[in-house]
Amino acid sequence: MRQIHLVAFLQAQNCTTIPAAWRHPEARADFTSPEYYQHIGRVLEHGKFDIGFFDDRLAMPDMYTGDHAHTIEHGIRAVKMDPVAVLMAMAMATERLGLGATFSTTYHEPFYVARLFQTLDLMTKGRAAWNVVTSVNDNEARNMGRDKVIAHDDRYDRADDFMEAALGLWDSWDDDAIILDKANSVFAKPGSVRRLDHEGEFYKTRGPFTVPRSVQGRPVVIQAGASGRGQKFAARWGELLFTAFPTFDIAKRNYDSLKAACAANGRNPDNFKIAALGFPVAAATKMEAEDKRALYDTLPNETDQLSLLSEGLNYDFGQKGMDEPFTDEDMEGLSGIQALRDRVVQQGVANPTPRDFMNLTQRGRLNHAWVGGPKEIADIMEEWFTSPVCDGFVIGPSVLPGSFEDFVEHVVPELQRRGLYRKEYTGSTLRDHLGLPKATHGDWQ
Ligand SMILES: Cc1cc2nc3c(=O)[nH]c(=O)nc-3n(C[C@H](O)[C@H](O)[C@H](O)COP(=O)(O)O)c2cc1C
Repeated sequence: MRQIHLVAFLQAQNCTTIPAAWRHPEARADFTSPEYYQHIGRVLEHGKFDIGFFDDRLAMPDMYTGDHAHTIEHGIRAVKMDPVAVLMAMAMATERLGLGATFSTTYHEPFYVARLFQTLDLMTKGRAAWNVVTSVNDNEARNMGRDKVIAHDDRYDRADDFMEAALGLWDSWDDDAIILDKANSVFAKPGSVRRLDHEGEFYKTRGPFTVPRSVQGRPVVIQAGASGRGQKFAARWGELLFTAFPTFDIAKRNYDSLKAACAANGRNPDNFKIAALGFPVAAATKMEAEDKRALYDTLPNETDQLSLLSEGLNYDFGQKGMDEPFTDEDMEGLSGIQALRDRVVQQGVANPTPRDFMNLTQRGRLNHAWVGGPKEIADIMEEWFTSPVCDGFVIGPSVLPGSFEDFVEHVVPELQRRGLYRKEYTGSTLRDHLGLPKATHGDWQ
């Protein structure tokens, strides 16, 4: 029987994706310590999650009003630590949980990223994944040697070339290359490690690569492209895809078209798992969950929202009065996460004001939350999963570590009782958990 896959949405920062999360009375304050992440890792492993993955941004928000003072004052994702270093601390406290980190193709070289993630895959015994992003806005560019973000579709063209190089490097060692024959001084078979000599349109890397294959072959590739170009990229390279769709109908259409796009690339759609983002607010009863929700709703402020809208759309919302409409030209000029802009336009507002953007996107607030006891939340998940509009879920926390503790305590047993979710891990690698075959050479070509 098909089983739900669960992904935990993690941030190596002072809050969850919701900036106000740090102000929650139950939020832990030791978010710069290994113990904090290790506790979360143990909770997720107890709940048999497939994987916890860290998002990333290479800048703190400072688009809004052109300055970072508000970010620091309100703690709007003000801390952003290196996700790979944090991931290793978590790996040391867990044995089965898959572990992923986000890394940008725009600001690093393929050799570096391939080496980093293949090392992680060895150090975690085949539990690693790379969430491939192309980075969205100018403040990341300014921290990383450029003045402006590269145009949206160009970023993906470069990323295609990046993936060919990275996967080529991973494939340049045979699985059985290492022999360790001490008596005859044969460390590894010379013919089993090849130079890549990649010369693409954007990237060049010669090789030979310096990290051997891992027990699952190579790390799992995660992607979350939402635009047309982004989804094309995801259907070509992604093995685990994250989607964030507001309604069941939109999610259904996208599920079918993404699986079809994957098949059109000559890939097996079963090896392309789609996980839908959701924010469960779980408790023992619906009433208790509603009380929790009510508390969350008191925490965000206007600055949180305007700051994250500015980041997401690469535009300073401080330039506009709260009720001043965006002109057609302003709308055209919005870059960054196109789906954010589209969501507002699709709701019938062609020239929205900042207040419209805040209300219609709910960015920076707990949005589309599933609020309920075990039954209500499992009902939603079962409907989405069996329809199907997804193969699993990305579980977004609203407060840490409480959201994951609640989910594991209340919802996981109900999903298990319904036969929708594993009671025990049946394998040891992330590919095992996701039902993906061990990677073989050239299977991505
Ligand atoms: C669950 C989830 C996690 C994401 N994590 C990141 C991230 O860590 N860093 C990032 O730059 N973008 C992240 N994104 C954004 C996507 O990578 C992508 O850029 C975005 O959905 C816009 O799609 P597009 O690039 O096709 O326009 C995430 C998206 C989702 C749904």
